[in-house]
Amino acid sequence: MNELSNLRKFVAPEYVYGFGSRHLLSQYAHNFSFDKILLVTDNGVKKACWIDEIKSDLISEGFEVTLFDNISPNPRDYEIMQGVKVFEENNCDSIIAVGGGSVMDCAKGIGISSANKQHILEFEGVDQVNIPSPPLICLPTTAGSSADVSQFCIVTDSSRKLKIAIISKTTIPDVALVDPEMTISMPLTLSVQTGLDALTHAVEAYVSNASSPMSDINALESIRLIYKYMPKVFENPNNEEFRNKMMLASLYAGLAFSNASLGGVHAMAHSLGGLKDLPHGLCNTILLDKVMNHNFDSNPNKFRHIAQIFNLKTDSNTSQYIKTDLAKFMKDFKKSLNIDKGFGEFGLVEKEISQLAHNAINDPCIVTNPRKLSINDLKALYEQSI
Ligand SMILES: [Fe+2]
Repeated sequence: MNELSNLRKFVAPEYVYGFGSRHLLSQYAHNFSFDKILLVTDNGVKKACWIDEIKSDLISEGFEVTLFDNISPNPRDYEIMQGVKVFEENNCDSIIAVGGGSVMDCAKGIGISSANKQHILEFEGVDQVNIPSPPLICLPTTAGSSADVSQFCIVTDSSRKLKIAIISKTTIPDVALVDPEMTISMPLTLSVQTGLDALTHAVEAYVSNASSPMSDINALESIRLIYKYMPKVFENPNNEEFRNKMMLASLYAGLAFSNASLGGVHAMAHSLGGLKDLPHGLCNTILLDKVMNHNFDSNPNKFRHIAQIFNLKTDSNTSQYIKTDLAKFMKDFKKSLNIDKGFGEFGLVEKEISQLAHNAINDPCIVTNPRKLSINDLKALYEQSI
């Protein structure tokens, strides 16, 4: 084997973590010489009042601020291109994103497309972006997507009805201000879905065939925190300490998957998100236990480590016992968080599975799944998830 094939890089943006870190925004905007800012957000975040506070702080510091909030969950290509138009018409030189994964992906897309003067769909795949984007600061309001630290930008291709992945170092924000206080007002259902999205990031990064000791340490710590604190947030969503731990878990998971990439769950979830326009976290939540079970035999040792974190018996048990216990645990864990549904309840029908499987097999995330997934495997996994 070529020894260079074992080399692993690890990239991360500058980030400031902790309660109140959002108050550093103006200082960072001055440091980067921002002048005319495109402030990207959505209606859900606007209701939480963060935008009013952030916008007035920026204006009082002398910045010109243009608001762009015409974004739906699973941001569409045309929404991004509309954002590019607003960015250009207002001669903006910088972008600030305040929101969850959809908002941050949209902001990344606006930056990519405006800098390169091309339609956003032309950048699908790995390392397809040539010109760096305008400076971008992200303030996440959910504990899950980690788009604020990742090399990923996910966009819905509205005509093909599928989500494309743009994976490039140029999509990493210049600064992330990760303030757990901004997640406290998040509705409980969204908290659970985004929390289990983070768990999926951590698990897929840990067992990814591009993982490394640097990504592993982040992934494992993330799984530990989510196992301990997701149920606590579910019971007591207003507790600052529990929210803090989930935000930290999301950050660790983001650092892990941004560098180790993801796997079959995300490939299948992107396909579902595009065709059925379902929430990303929900798709991952329904799929995770099935794909883990499918992947188990590809790396029993790593799945044993995950089982240990979940306090399952692993010392004397054979791999097959651990596999069974882990599958049961994952189902029970989801049930305890009030997620016990299949895609049938969200409108998926059998005849759509073939299309979903064909889209999923072309998703870049499938490349790092630890076990090769065929079209038939994907169809079987979707069928199990209906
Ligand atoms: Fe995700």
